[in-house]
Amino acid sequence: MSTLQEKLTQLQQKGSQDIKAASDLKQLNDIRVKLLGKKGPITEVLRGMRDLTKEERPAVGSFANKVRDALAEVVDQKKAELEQAKIEQQLATETIDVTLPGDQPKIGAHHVISQVIEQLEDTFLGMGFKVVYGYEVEEEKYNFEMLNMPKDHPARDMQDTFYITKDVLMRTHMSPDEARELEKHDFSQGPLKMVSPGRVYRRDTDDATHSHQFFQMEGQYIGKNVTMADLKGTLEFAIRQIFGEEREIRFRPSYFPFTEPSVEVDISCFKCNGKGCDVCKHTGWIEVLGAGMTHPNVLKAAGVDPEIYGGFAFGLGIDRFAMLKYGIDDIRNFYQNDVRFLTQFEKRG
Ligand code: PHE
Repeated sequence: MSTLQEKLTQLQQKGSQDIKAASDLKQLNDIRVKLLGKKGPITEVLRGMRDLTKEERPAVGSFANKVRDALAEVVDQKKAELEQAKIEQQLATETIDVTLPGDQPKIGAHHVISQVIEQLEDTFLGMGFKVVYGYEVEEEKYNFEMLNMPKDHPARDMQDTFYITKDVLMRTHMSPDEARELEKHDFSQGPLKMVSPGRVYRRDTDDATHSHQFFQMEGQYIGKNVTMADLKGTLEFAIRQIFGEEREIRFRPSYFPFTEPSVEVDISCFKCNGKGCDVCKHTGWIEVLGAGMTHPNVLKAAGVDPEIYGGFAFGLGIDRFAMLKYGIDDIRNFYQNDVRFLTQFEKRG
């Protein structure tokens, strides 16, 4: 045996040992490169063949190739072994406990304001009212002029307004929809019964009970022989839907330019049932909305003859309803979108 063959035999033994001792795939790869790579000892031996005689070369060459193939095979075996061990280890450490409860996907829910709007809409739809949605950006004409509030009318000061131009503004209440519907309505087809919920804007400084934007619902019933008793009955029914069957309502005289007579409507306190508590400020009554019999000037402005037709209108604050119903003490909660607040009222729509 030539010295080169001896050297190769030693290399094979030592190489196999090293390969078998590899503890992970990275180490194994390092060994493979070192042993079988271009700069490795086997390549070195093959290079040394130039010093051999022609007769010796084929035997040494084929021996070297055998050694290389044998080592490559040991590498492959070891690789398979290490890969298998890795999978087994993963299986042991990364077992999935199928009995653990899954993650609940977060599903959106209706905002508490939307819930109150929906409840009110359902109530009025049930009484034969239709629901309309107007424009947040409104003409001054519909927001004030047609509602018996001509320019310079002091009542305009009751609603501090965001003007966009002289004639265009952010609506300050939902009454413009009432004027628009009145103007459109064909009374030969029957009375006009409508409610209109939406967002309104006023130049108020935000605090716990004021917001420069909030929600209102207004409604009106205009037809023949519509009386204040109809107003009371309609509101009583709606209030009982929202605040409970035992609620009583009472009217107090008030002033609005678009109604005459005008009233403030109170409900008997749902917390203390009239005995007096912090919610009703110890009066037993809570003020919840404004209403009245539609002013003849409003009817005239919309082209409706007040000698034949008349009726009532009312406006309520949806935020205030929600605050009362759910005992919320700060209106700003509705507009901050803090999920911790919102999820308390989760009712899947
Ligand atoms: N538009 C009035 C307001 O926002 C509310 C209201 C409507 C009062 C209809 C009476 C009749 O203050």
